[in-house]
Amino acid sequence: MCGIVGFSGKEKAVDAIYTGLKHLEYRGYDSAGIAVNNNGSLRMLKASGNLENLKQKLDNDKLEGPCGIGHTRWATHGAPTDVNAHPHLSSDGKFAIVHNGIIENYLELKEELIKEGYKFLSETDTEVIVHLLEHYYKGDVKEAFLKTVSRLEGSYAIGVICSDNPGVAYAAKYFAPLIVGIGDGENLFASDVTAIIGHTKNVIYLEDGEFAEISKDKVTIYDFKGNEVKKEISKVEWDVESAEKGGYEHFMLKEIMEQPKAIKSAIEPRIKNGRIVLENEEELASACKNIERIVISACGSAFHAGYVGRYIIEELCKKSVKIEYASELRYSSPVINEKALTIVVSQSGETADTIAALKECKARGSKVLAIVNVVGSTIAKLADFVLYTYAGPEIAVATTKGYTTQVAVFDLFAVWLADKLKTIDEKIYNNLVDDIMQLPERIQRSIDLNPNVEKLARKYYKNDVVFFIGRNLDYAVGLEASLKLKEISYLHSEAYAAGELKHGTIALIEDGSLVVALACREDLYAKTMSNVKEVKARGANVVAVTDEDNKDIFTEASDVILIPKINSLFVAACEVVPLQLFSYYIAKERGCDIDKPKNLAKSVTVE
Ligand code: AGP
Repeated sequence: MCGIVGFSGKEKAVDAIYTGLKHLEYRGYDSAGIAVNNNGSLRMLKASGNLENLKQKLDNDKLEGPCGIGHTRWATHGAPTDVNAHPHLSSDGKFAIVHNGIIENYLELKEELIKEGYKFLSETDTEVIVHLLEHYYKGDVKEAFLKTVSRLEGSYAIGVICSDNPGVAYAAKYFAPLIVGIGDGENLFASDVTAIIGHTKNVIYLEDGEFAEISKDKVTIYDFKGNEVKKEISKVEWDVESAEKGGYEHFMLKEIMEQPKAIKSAIEPRIKNGRIVLENEEELASACKNIERIVISACGSAFHAGYVGRYIIEELCKKSVKIEYASELRYSSPVINEKALTIVVSQSGETADTIAALKECKARGSKVLAIVNVVGSTIAKLADFVLYTYAGPEIAVATTKGYTTQVAVFDLFAVWLADKLKTIDEKIYNNLVDDIMQLPERIQRSIDLNPNVEKLARKYYKNDVVFFIGRNLDYAVGLEASLKLKEISYLHSEAYAAGELKHGTIALIEDGSLVVALACREDLYAKTMSNVKEVKARGANVVAVTDEDNKDIFTEASDVILIPKINSLFVAACEVVPLQLFSYYIAKERGCDIDKPKNLAKSVTVE
């Protein structure tokens, strides 16, 4: 969702800000804008649509000045027009502001400000912030800022410049992502690391309720009471190439191909001398010791990774596992207390629904383990325990390596927990660890075995609807494969537990329907094949996904996608990879904007 960049340096801020915004494009947006402070005079340009529209304006009308702020807006309050685009200016022209998040009490504040005589130009909630700043400003920006944030309810990351303080940019964070980059003769803030990695690897992760003041050679952080806070400077582990396409046509394709490496990063540091060693494991083991059940909560693909985790944990640890959409958890009456361990899963670590579910579970007394990719994210900070997925930056909106690394962490966690709970013996444990260690190589083979997926996509891309069927883990993977296809190709697709088909959905199967049958769990193969026969009898074309040793499949299916043989429990990451490629090539044939599908945002920071 919205992206923020702030910059203070020696030269033209606009270039650094525009490049930063380009790197935040993946978050999803529908308008953009930049404001700079040139020797005490604020100038800004905004444009609806993509950054190219803003670029055209910038090319015709130079924005000079060494300090400024920029924004990509994903519309919530008001249409994606030039007027609603950020930055917004105060009536006296002294302040420009950009904002990510939602001000929940904006109507009440707006009414109050209108009574004071302030005129609102946009439909946004953001505009109340800039008028409040003007209202409270008596010559000290920090003081006005702190008074302003004390009036705000909701979530926000804010960037501000003030004409009275050229060379200084201000930022505040409250339940929306914001980091500060410490450069050489220049400093920045941004919604995430991708926007600043071209300048510096040294970052400060702001906490909620913190306020930053940056100039070209100084960064000062305060809490919302105005006290200075000493912060640790962290080093970002990855480099600028990780956030670029590296010769691939799309980020999504690059990220699919990166999966063997990403899975290796998730697994290898956690296997020492044949034993799984998790971070903070003594405390985690003690939190798991007396639990009666596990609750997994997440959204979208992270939910699907949780679905995989559920099956593996139940099978190995003999614990009851409930999986609940994070967006629904608060509206059910979940049995969550100190006897439950909650596992939340999130690539971005900023998903508003998942944050709300996490808080709800904590409030009910459950310890929370988070499986997260983005270091220092809100979910990582709020959870009691964190297992990072180490997938590196994921830019394509449709997750690929984010999902498979979550699955890999579930594989590790399930075996680790089974060992702690003594539900598996030493021999089984050792075999399972060996199987997990083979995953990076097996995932590479999954890619290598399927050069024909592109041709297959060309054969089927005109189908109106695609059904994915499978049982148990095959079904869980079907859910993810179906979501992938929907989100990037806009093709209608559904995933069904194979046995459920005949209870209604089979009515939709007709001549030429496309059914993708996931049949990688050997123990369930025969059952799934009987469902394949049912759809074939009604005229469907069947693409089957199965392991490479299975020779019978060629008589059953119209087309076959093969994956390498692997322990059935760990099949998900290998099985999904050729289906990610299938979706990718279908979307390409259909001429879709693969990395930035319509209506979607990378991290969904509103509920
Ligand atoms: C996946 O391709 C989607 N873009 C989406 O479902 C995503 O997985 C979901 O919004 C959760 O995001 P998170 O992992 O960052 O919490």
